[in-house]
Amino acid sequence: MKSIIEPLLRDHAKLRTLAGELRAHTERFDLPGMRQTAQAMLDTARAHILKEEAVLYLIGMKFLKANNKKLPELFKEHDQTLSRLQNLGQLLFSARLTNIEDQARQTVFMLLEGLDHHLAEEESVVFPALDKLIDDPHKELILHRYGTMDGGEFDELDRMPLVSLSDEEPHTSGSVRSSGFDTL
Ligand SMILES: [Fe+2]
Ligand SMILES: [Fe+2]
Repeated sequence: MKSIIEPLLRDHAKLRTLAGELRAHTERFDLPGMRQTAQAMLDTARAHILKEEAVLYLIGMKFLKANNKKLPELFKEHDQTLSRLQNLGQLLFSARLTNIEDQARQTVFMLLEGLDHHLAEEESVVFPALDKLIDDPHKELILHRYGTMDGGEFDELDRMPLVSLSDEEPHTSGSVRSSGFDTL
């Protein structure tokens, strides 16, 4: 079976490349470069977060206990990343360009620092746990959803049907359920 994590890792690689470009443009305060890169990051992050949250909703509803702390944290960080990118975009296209440099530099700094931490934690802790925890029928379901997302048929509201689809109750072994993911 194809990996459900591989497409997420590819997005991370793309986000890291863009983050490096944004850092370089910001050092020189190259405004057109910053604008273009911030927009590309927003587009990439939006698509990535949709994919990732489809998986996280599923795993949250299906396998995690109610007191899990990691999941809400990840969702909050996603919202934070998107709102920082949106704020940055607004600043960079603002009419009062002379006053924005300090604020734009600070927003970029917070954005990149937060993103760095988020990607590293997902790769070291979250993805390995997901890969281990999700059973094959659910992996099939997730791969299918990725397919419809890439075809542009996916929108944010489609995350919930993914959860209800999963109620077909695939065979989940007891060992998977008690694998301690709630300590993640
Ligand atoms: Fe994420
Ligand atoms: Fe991610």
